[in-house]
Amino acid sequence: MKTKKSKTIKNKRSKKEIKIAVAGVGNCISMLVQGIEYYKNNRKNIGLMHPDLGGYRISDIKIVAAFDVNKDKVGKDLSEAIFEPKTINTVKISDVPNLGVEVMKAPILDGVGEFLGTKVKVSNKKDVDVASVLKDSGAEILINYIPVGSYKATRFYADAAIKAGCAFVNFIPEFIASDKVWVKKFKKAGLPLIGDDNKGQLGASILSRVLANLFKERGGKVERMYQLNFGGNTDFLNLLEHSRLKFKKISKTETVQSQLAKRLKDENIHIGPSDYVPWLKSRKIANVRIEGKTFGDIPIFMDIKLDVEDKSVATGVAVDAIRCAKLALGRGVGGVLESASAYFMKFPAKQYPDWQARQMLEEFIEGKRER
Ligand SMILES: NC(=O)c1ccc[n+]([C@@H]2O[C@H](COP(=O)([O-])OP(=O)(O)OC[C@H]3O[C@@H](n4cnc5c(N)ncnc54)[C@H](O)[C@@H]3O)[C@@H](O)[C@H]2O)c1
Repeated sequence: MKTKKSKTIKNKRSKKEIKIAVAGVGNCISMLVQGIEYYKNNRKNIGLMHPDLGGYRISDIKIVAAFDVNKDKVGKDLSEAIFEPKTINTVKISDVPNLGVEVMKAPILDGVGEFLGTKVKVSNKKDVDVASVLKDSGAEILINYIPVGSYKATRFYADAAIKAGCAFVNFIPEFIASDKVWVKKFKKAGLPLIGDDNKGQLGASILSRVLANLFKERGGKVERMYQLNFGGNTDFLNLLEHSRLKFKKISKTETVQSQLAKRLKDENIHIGPSDYVPWLKSRKIANVRIEGKTFGDIPIFMDIKLDVEDKSVATGVAVDAIRCAKLALGRGVGGVLESASAYFMKFPAKQYPDWQARQMLEEFIEGKRER
């Protein structure tokens, strides 16, 4: 039976909204939009790090503006665009009702590369003024989920967020929250910044980091390692274009190097997207191999295979990062959120072991740090 108190809490919560805008209506956003619906209707909380984060539930997240360039998405309601069949192949976890949010045509800049261009036909609609749309929509947070290699477009969105007075969460490997100049800009504007590059909930990066720390704690020595990743979504298709990969490779490698007892020479560590396998669709396979030494200088070989739904593990983190940005906004905290960036992102300004980042994050949620 529901008590009077629990009813009051529910009523209070339903009034709280986290209004976000999304740059790039791709597979990650498909899972995010579906996830918001899914957890509205499913109270079991399976798959969540924080069912309640600082008083906010996932169902409090509301998308109020969306930007893309693909003609098959622009002009459509977000609920339709997230199931566009040529480029979206993430698994379906929920039906989504009409959301009343039209996908707006943004400037393409360097968003669509050679390989992605074989699937994405660019809309010929006029570009909207992104900063104005953000303001008019009442968005509080802009999240960036555009393709890897979007150097100019990411900076364009970061700038638009500042102009519109939005917090910015950068889920892609372009360096904004790890760049002193951008950090200063957000600090000056009094706006929260989290980034860079989504560290999956249970993906290849967190697994490799945990193993690196395990070797460190147990006195083992890592001598060589690789992490090879395969997938069949447009993210992997785009990554076939090696010139777009530079920061992805730095981010993915550094996230592991930073956790080793001793950094490996470049020739002894290989981490990166390795191929596009269309039939894998949204599954991602990661092969991690570590070679090293244990007691008595005896060799150890470790081979691990991970098989995950790529967008599920990305979104398991995104829903927490968004709620942390909202908490910071509510507390008037501007500039980079060190704890959230360290725990949720592969390439934060400062790396911490994940156990420590988690502790910092919990302190932040409780209002004890980054005040
Ligand atoms: N596990 C993960 O999924 C994961 C982890 C870390 C980082 N990321 C990063 O998140 C990003 C998004 O991943 P995804 O799988 O959703 O990719 P996706 O290819 O499915 O979606 C990208 C979307 O951005 C759109 N786009 C291109 N240029 C644009 C522009 N200028 N403005 C607005 N939209 C534009 C594309 O049309 C497409 O709809 C990628 O950079 C990916 O590397 C994902």
